[in-house]
Amino acid sequence: VAIQLDVVSLPAGPMRLLAGWFDEARGSGTPGARAMVLATADPSGAPSARTVLATVIDDSGVTFHSSHPTRKTRDLAANPRASAVFGWYGIGAQVVLTGTVELLPAAEADAAFAARPRYLQLLAWAYERPPAQEDLAGAAARERERWGGRVPDRPPGWLGFRLRPEVVDFWRGPVGAGPAAPDTGPDTGPDTAHERVRYALGAGSWHLSRELP
Ligand SMILES: Cc1cc2nc3c(=O)[nH]c(=O)nc-3n(C[C@H](O)[C@H](O)[C@H](O)COP(=O)(O)O)c2cc1C
Repeated sequence: VAIQLDVVSLPAGPMRLLAGWFDEARGSGTPGARAMVLATADPSGAPSARTVLATVIDDSGVTFHSSHPTRKTRDLAANPRASAVFGWYGIGAQVVLTGTVELLPAAEADAAFAARPRYLQLLAWAYERPPAQEDLAGAAARERERWGGRVPDRPPGWLGFRLRPEVVDFWRGPVGAGPAAPDTGPDTGPDTAHERVRYALGAGSWHLSRELP
């Protein structure tokens, strides 16, 4: 496998590389390319993780959305430190981001909500007054009725967040690496084909290093 993470030719910051891999994963048909596993911790340090969908990736970070209150939104309100993992196993790639999560300004969250499919907008309203689990479809139907032909506003509990990374690790291996890798035996695995580079923010600029995979 050719070296794909040649530090000499990598961009000065991680976000352009991340956006490029994101496009590559989506273009390759990797299932769930937008999904990232977000890990948070409560004030006592107890971790928890779950999948969220990344909506925008740009120089300032990665945005995602969540209804509030949930465990993640409570954790983040008390402790904004977080980590997120994109696992693009179909192209043999992983990106791990660690940094701080901030709340998006209301106008940005409004715009993101407005861009969502209507059924998700109505579902967000159904979540706003949590019905019993079995009644969610009924709650969504009531919301459909309530909003009629109008465009639903953003419910106050539907929030946007931006993960601003301070460390970003890019891992690349042979396609099929990850959970579904075939067992090739102790001496025949393509170990040398794994690569990892790290971008770390220090004094306002990114430092790039090659790490053991
Ligand atoms: C593919 C996939 C995408 C998801 N996207 C989101 C999302 O964008 N935002 C969200 O709040 N939950 C999303 N969820 C649900 C979360 O994983 C989680 O169950 C929920 O947010 C409650 O998590 P919490 O109590 O840990 O905060 C998604 C789940 C899956 C499997």
